[in-house]
Amino acid sequence: MERKPFILANWKMNKTVDESVDFVEEFLPMVADEVEVEVALAPSFVSLAAVSRALAGSAVGLAAQNMHWEEGGAFTGEVSPVMLRDAGCRYVILGHSERRQFFGEGDGEVSRKVQAALREGITPVVCVGETLGERDYGKTFDTVGVQIHGGLADVVLESGREIVLAYEPVWAIGTGKTASPEEAQEVQSFARTQLADLFGGEVAGSVRILYGGSVKPENIGALMAMDDIDGALVGGASLEPESFAGIIKSVIGET
Ligand code: 13P
Repeated sequence: MERKPFILANWKMNKTVDESVDFVEEFLPMVADEVEVEVALAPSFVSLAAVSRALAGSAVGLAAQNMHWEEGGAFTGEVSPVMLRDAGCRYVILGHSERRQFFGEGDGEVSRKVQAALREGITPVVCVGETLGERDYGKTFDTVGVQIHGGLADVVLESGREIVLAYEPVWAIGTGKTASPEEAQEVQSFARTQLADLFGGEVAGSVRILYGGSVKPENIGALMAMDDIDGALVGGASLEPESFAGIIKSVIGET
C-alpha cells in the first residue's frame, strides 16, 4: 500500500510570530523541489495566521498543536476547529503526551476532538505512546492499544488517508534517546493491527503512522527504512531550518 511520507514539525511553545515567519522564509527555498514528501509546520496558535500567509503558494502545510471539540461558545482560552480551518490549518495534532501529562487530557477528549476535526475537514494527527515505566513493566502494547481504541472510539473513516497516527514513546521525547528503528517498528506494526481491528485491513493499510522522539537528520533514514514508519513528528530538530530541511532531504534519499 502506497503511503506518502509525511514530516511534521511540532514547534511546541516556541517562537514568536516574527521568529515563525523568519523560519518559513529561510526554510521554503531549502525544500522547494521536494514534492515526494508531505511537509507541515505546527506553530503556536498566535502564529498560525502569519505562518499561513508566509506559506501561501508553497506545498508546505499548516498544522495546529491542539483544538477544542466544539465549534464555538463559552470555552475561555480554547480554539475551535472552525477557527483552525479559517486560519488555514490542514492538520491538527491531538493527544500529544505533553497534553496528556500536563493538562490532564485523556482518550475521551481525544476521541471527541478527532471526530470534530474530521467534521471540519482537518486531518487529525493522533499521538500515542508509553512512558518509561510502562515500557519497563512490559505494558507498551497495552498502553498503545488502549490509547488507539479509546482515542479513535466512535470515529468513522472512509479512507485511511483521513487520519494520521503518531507513535511517540514518552521516554524518547526531548531526551536525545531515540527508540531504535526495530523498537519503533515493533510498536507501529502493532498499532496498525489495532487500526485494522477498528477500521478493517484496507483502511489500516493506508493510515500513515509517524514516529516521534528525538528524530534528527542522522537517524531519520534508518527509521524510515522500516515498513510501518511512514514519517516523523519532529520537536527539537524542527526549530532550525537547516536541521528540519536536513530531515526532509534524508527522507528523499530513502524513498
Ligand atoms: P523531540 O523531537 O524534541 O524529541 O520531540 C518529539 C515530539 O514530542 C514531537 O511531537
